[in-house]
Amino acid sequence: MTFLEELEACRRQVEGALADYFQADVPQRYLLDAMRYSLLAGGKRIRAVLVLKFCEAAEGDANVAMPVACGVEMLHTYSLIHDDLPCMDNDDLRRGKPTNHKVYGEMTATLAGDALQAGAFEAVLSADLPAETRAECALTLAQAVGALGMCGGQQLDKEGESQAFSLDQVTYMNGLKTGRLLRAACEMGVLAAGLPKDSPQAEAARAYADAIGLAFQIRDDMLNVTSTEQAMGKPVGNDAALRKSTYVSLLGLEGCRERVTRLTAQAQEAIAPAFAHPAFLQELAGYLSERQM
Ligand code: IPE
Ligand code: IPE
Ligand code: MG
Ligand code: MG
Repeated sequence: MTFLEELEACRRQVEGALADYFQADVPQRYLLDAMRYSLLAGGKRIRAVLVLKFCEAAEGDANVAMPVACGVEMLHTYSLIHDDLPCMDNDDLRRGKPTNHKVYGEMTATLAGDALQAGAFEAVLSADLPAETRAECALTLAQAVGALGMCGGQQLDKEGESQAFSLDQVTYMNGLKTGRLLRAACEMGVLAAGLPKDSPQAEAARAYADAIGLAFQIRDDMLNVTSTEQAMGKPVGNDAALRKSTYVSLLGLEGCRERVTRLTAQAQEAIAPAFAHPAFLQELAGYLSERQM
């Protein structure tokens, strides 16, 4: 199998597993429909792939880690639904479709995000893994997305729309907003394989994640300038319109390109000594550095 075939196969498995959630035939069906609308709208599934492939690299069973992978995608989808709300970015398009609140209304979209967050922890805690591993994964996820993680980054990101940020401030904000969940995904993959948080494999996963996380956000800032709404499935050009401090405004496109290349090599090197078969994850880092959506 080529790298792209393996990536596609992994994504398909994730799509299949996600499709099984939130199907109960209950009176509050409208809420479950709203959750499924965004969850199954076709994201890139990078975070789920990271969970599964780090689990495999650490010689664990990726099938057992699937609920953890689904949990990360639920959490991520919740963050996107709330991010698009009128009180946040007020966006109309996500994953190539009208945003959740445009279809289901603000009230249901808010609840769909809330319930996806709870669903994420339920999925992680329901995995067929030892209780201690499940607890460790849930703790890792909680720490990644709370006030000291993704939500904290979202707060700073919005504050950054009315003031100039330095490169250090932009890097700190993105580390929380985007980086911490990506790191949790990589780390939970290793944990799901039964290795402890202080293992060399977990250490390498965190180093890889921090490098690709930063590269991922730099790439996102670049695409916000160079890509189209159709290619991205979400609005572009809004960073410049808001005169936001981004990697592009601070480093220029060429500076961004150089930094992404450097970070990608760093990620690839970080996992080489810790895993017997790092090739897929190394290729994934390269693939993400050139992503067009
Ligand atoms: C979008 O994440 C938000 C950022 C953190 C930049 P992705 O680019 O992974 O979005 P999906 O899941 O593919 O839609
Ligand atoms: C979305 O951040 C990231 C999270 C929801 C944590 P942005 O607002 O920068 O990204 P897009 O452009 O809406 O995907
Ligand atoms: Mg935002
Ligand atoms: Mg946004």
